[in-house]
Parts: sequence; structure tokens; C-alpha cells
Amino acid sequence: MKFSRSVFILLALAGSSLAQGANFAYPLDGDTLVAESNISIRIDRPTPSAPVVEAGIGLGMSACSSDSCPSPETSFKYLFYAGGFNPQRPAQVNPGDDFNAFQNFTVTVPSIEGKAVLGFLHSSFGEGADAYFPFFESVNITVNVVPA
Ligand SMILES: *[C@@H]1O[C@H](CO)[C@@H](O)[C@H](O)[C@H]1NC(C)=O
Ligand SMILES: *[C@@H]1O[C@H](CO)[C@@H](O)[C@H](O)[C@H]1NC(C)=O
Ligand SMILES: *[C@@H]1O[C@H](CO)[C@@H](O)[C@H](O)[C@H]1NC(C)=O
Repeated sequence: MKFSRSVFILLALAGSSLAQGANFAYPLDGDTLVAESNISIRIDRPTPSAPVVEAGIGLGMSACSSDSCPSPETSFKYLFYAGGFNPQRPAQVNPGDDFNAFQNFTVTVPSIEGKAVLGFLHSSFGEGADAYFPFFESVNITVNVVPA
């Protein structure tokens, strides 16, 4: 099979982009959270296939209306954190544990009730052989907030 150089570069970029992605390890989509409680939000960054320079992350939440949830790309009603992202591997991993590099963010669940979107915006740079490749993503889950 013969790939043109540009197709090859696109595939390589798509691959490196995917490999830089982060995700919620806790809570998970569909989880129930208690308003006004303190929780540790755990964001995992699975090992990238190539070296990555982390840039930053913005983490927040918005209540959903009956028919839609605000996108993290548009607004956050509650901004929990905005700053550097520094995922670290767990110091110790037992069989069955989550072994991904992660960062915990302790937040207080807002006093809202019902469906809410929890999301983050994340950016990093993949280190290529002769350049850095910027990567951006918006990740969200939907949670259900119940009164304390
Ligand atoms: C949550 O954390 C804040 C800040 O550390 C603290 O003041 C508050 O009492 C905690 N709330 C609960 C319900 O533990
Ligand atoms: C990070 O948060 C998760 C989920 O709340 C928790 O299970 C874990 O113990 C926390 N780890 C550290 C090191 O704080
Ligand atoms: C949440 O993420 C999904 C993709 O996982 C996307 O389809 C959806 O539009 C996002 N929702 C919001 C409110 O941004």
C-alpha cells in the first residue's frame, strides 16, 4: 500500500492527538453527586505514545435545562479550576487499580438539583521529531446532583 506523505502526516497527527487525551476517572457519566459535599474529581491521562508537554486545564460544571446542557466550550456556570495540568502516576498500584497518570481536583459540589454537565477543556503539545503539535479537547460527562 502506498500512502501519500500528507495522508501519512494526517494519520500521525490524529494518532498523537488521540494519545494525548484525558478523561474522567471519577465521577463517571451518570453518577449521582450530593450537593455541597466535597469530592475529588480524578482526571486520568493515559500514557501518550510520544512525549507530551502539558499546558493546562479548565474544569467546571453547569446545570442542564430540561432539554440541553451548556457545552464546556461555551460556558461554565461554576469554574472549579483553571491552571496547569500535571498528571502523575500513582505511587503504588495494586492489581485491578487504575494505573494511569492522574490529577485529583477537590471541589465542592454546587447547590443545584438535577442534571448537570461536568466538563474540562485541556490543551497540551505533542513532541514530534522536529516540532511541537498542539492538541485541544473538550470532555464532558453528565451527572445527577441530589440535595444534601
Ligand atoms: C468542604 O471543604 C471546604 C474547604 O476545605 C470546607 O470549608 C467545608 O467544610 C467542606 N465541606 C464539607 C461538607 O465537608
Ligand atoms: C483521587 O481521587 C479518587 C476519586 O475520588 C480517589 O479514589 C483517590 O483516592 C484520590 N487519590 C489521591 C492520591 O488523592
Ligand atoms: C459532551 O461530549 C459528547 C462527546 O463525548 C458530545 O457529543 C456532547 O455534545 C458534549 N455535550 C456538551 C453539553 O458539550
